[in-house]
Amino acid sequence: MKKKNKGNYLTLRESRQIIKHNIKQMKYYEKLKKANKSVVDYTIKMHDPNNIIEIDNLHTVFFTDNGTVNSVNGVSFNIPKNKVVGVVGESGCGKSVTSLSIMQLVQSPQGQVIEGEIRYNTDDLGFDENNNKLGYDIAKMPTHDMYKIRGKDITMIFQEPMTSLNPIFTIGYQLDEVMFNHAPDMTKEDVKKHSLEMLVKVGISMPERVYKSYPHELSGGMRQRVMIAMALAGKPRLIIADEPTTALDVTIQAQILDLLKSIQKDIECSIMLITHDLGVIAEMADEVIVMYAGKVIERGTVRDIFNNPKHPYTIGLQKSKPLINTNVNEPLYSIPGQVPNPINMPNHCYFKSRCNKCMAKCNSVYPQEYKISDTHYVSCYLYDKEGK
Ligand SMILES: Nc1ncnc2c1ncn2[C@@H]1O[C@H](COP(=O)(O)OP(=O)(O)OP(=O)(O)O)[C@@H](O)[C@H]1O
Ligand code: SF4
Ligand SMILES: [Mg+2]
Repeated sequence: MKKKNKGNYLTLRESRQIIKHNIKQMKYYEKLKKANKSVVDYTIKMHDPNNIIEIDNLHTVFFTDNGTVNSVNGVSFNIPKNKVVGVVGESGCGKSVTSLSIMQLVQSPQGQVIEGEIRYNTDDLGFDENNNKLGYDIAKMPTHDMYKIRGKDITMIFQEPMTSLNPIFTIGYQLDEVMFNHAPDMTKEDVKKHSLEMLVKVGISMPERVYKSYPHELSGGMRQRVMIAMALAGKPRLIIADEPTTALDVTIQAQILDLLKSIQKDIECSIMLITHDLGVIAEMADEVIVMYAGKVIERGTVRDIFNNPKHPYTIGLQKSKPLINTNVNEPLYSIPGQVPNPINMPNHCYFKSRCNKCMAKCNSVYPQEYKISDTHYVSCYLYDKEGK
């Protein structure tokens, strides 16, 4: 529900209307999530069997006291099997909310996926009669069925490991617990053996000692390695890493990124890597998704985005990155202006007020996605060949 644009305040009446609307919507979506559904109700055809995830027109909103925040506003992209997909964009553009939607971990009842599909290419289902690969639609999956894949097939590594680890339990206890969840029939000894193996796999040289340690006894880099070990416990097919190295210093950052890359190759999984850092994307990613104000504004291979950026925002992002030969006396380029208010999104290009290439056409509806090549797409009227 949109707030009336009468200034920066809401009248008591508007406030009451918003609260009433929110309660109704939240009840509706929560009921849907708890409904008893059979697997066929959320079985869906994959568009390409080589993708592990296909996100299609995803809308995730937050029902707040000021109105409905459109955090993810029609996002579509694929994560191919065994590839690293980098997601980049400025703060608040919806990177984390997109990833939390995949995990069904959006803060509810305020946060809800209200439209779109998240197709997950599971091994549990085969093919339909026309030989189409079948998957689960996570957007329609009831919460209790999500346990089949969350933490096992799809896992997540967060920015700050200290907030994900429980300070009152040892690392060993927490690692074993994850293993028991995935394989309840394993004996205690086997679980411990597996946990120690995981610690070795993530480059911890004294696994027995770390196994007995509490989180506060480890350095930031070690804690992030433990988080990666936990994410690996269930042999995931997709790891979502949300700013996994932002809280670490540069040398440890490089070690953790190398570790992630080698693990990805080793266990043949996909990684959705969320970061502000274009350098990290250049080093790690095969494909890049550029987000702006809840939408994907450009997507392509890492080469497309770095060698041939098309959207004025992507070009601005590249210019604002410090380079080794930058004159230190010159201030870094910054993109002027602000992102539109996510409660009252305009119905033209969201980058318009900040764009130095803006034309008359940009005042019309939000631009569709234009094809630059088979791998490269951009939402900007500059590439509308027919309209020129
Ligand atoms: N619990 C919440 N309640 C209300 N709004 C929220 C909530 N969580 C996120 N949002 C809003 O959703 C939008 C997208 O947030 P998100 O956390 O996905 O951004 P982000 O791209 O991950 O940013 P950052 O790079 O700073 O982590 C923002 O406008 C944010 O204010
Ligand atoms: S559509 Fe127009 S305003 Fe938007 S980024 Fe392209 S040129 Fe700029
Ligand atoms: Mg985030």
